[in-house]
Amino acid sequence: KISNAMQRGAFIVFEGCDRSGKTTQSRLLVEKLQANGVSTVHLNFPERKSSQIGQVINSYLTNSQDLPDEVIHLMFSANRWEHLNRMRKQLEAGTTLVVDRYSYSGVAYTVAKGLDLNWCYAPERGLLKPDAVFYLKTELDELAKRGSYGTERYEKLEFQRKVSSVFDCLYERESSYWHRLNASDKVEDLHQQIAQISEKLLEQVATQPLDKLT
Ligand code: TMP
Repeated sequence: KISNAMQRGAFIVFEGCDRSGKTTQSRLLVEKLQANGVSTVHLNFPERKSSQIGQVINSYLTNSQDLPDEVIHLMFSANRWEHLNRMRKQLEAGTTLVVDRYSYSGVAYTVAKGLDLNWCYAPERGLLKPDAVFYLKTELDELAKRGSYGTERYEKLEFQRKVSSVFDCLYERESSYWHRLNASDKVEDLHQQIAQISEKLLEQVATQPLDKLT
């Protein structure tokens, strides 16, 4: 039996359109794991507060600053790179990370603007690869029913439709570690599905090396 000290945490990501329930589900998962005694940290990207890059992203999203599509894309990616070392240390120390959005949002939102997928993916190579991605798939009608979007830059139904189709492509490509779930299922049902998969995953990955996006 391998001692606890050698076991790493799991790297779990939530992806999906705006208002797909990622924040609710990632919080519920964090609470559940913590209640089970698993050391767990909740993160979300963009991480807007703790760096200058994050602050620029925030002012871009709230429409107080304009930037070329390529520039903001690279800033979203840089925002992940600036948190890489800390994330790796936490995982290696046995902490599980539950992350609301990651590289796939980076790709999906910029490809939805018309940029090339390979170009969009390139700066993500070398970042840590998640052990699992929970993709909360929304039907656009369902999203519309959830009420009007807020005022941030991408919160428009037409744009979300495009984002959603890129997520579907990514799912086809990455399906070995993606779990596509129906975001219109009841909150509690979704949570049960996610918790069950995560608990198995924690055991499976504990002694596996961390992987990188290639
Ligand atoms: P949030 O609502 O989850 O804070 O995300 C803010 C917006 O930023 C959301 O519309 C998705 C978008 N986004 C990107 O365009 N690229 C990225 O790399 C990330 C993480 C988010």
